[in-house]
Amino acid sequence: MPNDAVFTLFLIAIFNFLLSVQSHPAILLPSQRHRNSPVSSPASCPAPNPSLYYRPIIGILSHPGDSASGRISNATGTSYIAASYVKFVEAAGARVIPLIYNEPHSKLQKKLDLVNGVLFTGGSAKSGLYFETVRRIFKKILERNDAGDHFPLYATCLGFELLTMIISKDNNILEEFSALNQASTLQFVENANIEGTVFQRFPPDLLKKMSTECLVMQNHRYGISPGKFLANEKLSSFFEILSTCKDEDDKVYVSTVYSRNYPVTAFQWHPEKNTFEWGVPGIPHTEDAIQITQHVANFLVGEARKSINRPVAQEVLDNLIYNYSPTYAGKYGGGFDEVYIFAQV
Ligand SMILES: *[C@@H]1O[C@H](CO)[C@@H](O)[C@H](O)[C@H]1NC(C)=O
Repeated sequence: MPNDAVFTLFLIAIFNFLLSVQSHPAILLPSQRHRNSPVSSPASCPAPNPSLYYRPIIGILSHPGDSASGRISNATGTSYIAASYVKFVEAAGARVIPLIYNEPHSKLQKKLDLVNGVLFTGGSAKSGLYFETVRRIFKKILERNDAGDHFPLYATCLGFELLTMIISKDNNILEEFSALNQASTLQFVENANIEGTVFQRFPPDLLKKMSTECLVMQNHRYGISPGKFLANEKLSSFFEILSTCKDEDDKVYVSTVYSRNYPVTAFQWHPEKNTFEWGVPGIPHTEDAIQITQHVANFLVGEARKSINRPVAQEVLDNLIYNYSPTYAGKYGGGFDEVYIFAQV
């Protein structure tokens, strides 16, 4: 019967293959590999690009409060980092050092010397010590780039708003928008050059979908219109507008900006939420939405690998976020699933 013949040939083929595996020393089954032979020979793995750093660290600035109106901690001086920002960085191949906003200057400065990039999170604090800390760190980031390092900054939501205030030197420049807890499309500015920006390595079909499907998460009361942004000479010379979005009342606000001269990107939207937050309805969790989170994270860490900073390994270990444990916060209704809580320092 033809079927039997085929089966016999198949058995012979398998037998020959097993024989060749046994007699051919270059092909090793996984169980034969250990001890005497290295897992991979150096010759087969070319040296990685020596100008890139493959152990990058991102500093994330903590925000005042416990994220849940005191339901997790009432202690004065408490601050938090939503774990979604930490996972976002980790998912792209970097580790995190928390920059606790009310630590002494000297300690914050020491931590900045241990990182290869910084992330400012969302939140609500627009004044006081938090604002001053953001302003000081931003200044240092620019100085570090001016001194020859490639030292990236991501600023998300509140981070975007604070940079807008700081760069324009106008604390009243923000306008009110209705964009709380909603997914939106992203409209790319016509003729915007995405080369060298966060969007450069997005697949073209994903970029197209972002302009027609609600794939990015918004959660903000404030923002800035393109007209006001462009009319401010300081803002428009520092940043190029890459995208805009519309709020519930069809009012247009600036949603993504990229610095013309520094590796600084600011998002009015929340790239970290699609993959890592579940507490608020409306967060897109489709495969396309998850791809967006991943591509945005990849760009930050890719930029951080270009940093020339090579921190002392032991000091890094002493300061990593792994020295803290996240708290499950979803049940407290603050909108985050997990948060890192930092007591007064
Ligand atoms: C914080 O204070 C509020 C109001 O007094 C109280 O309801 C809440 O239980 C306190 N939170 C903690 C974690 O103790």
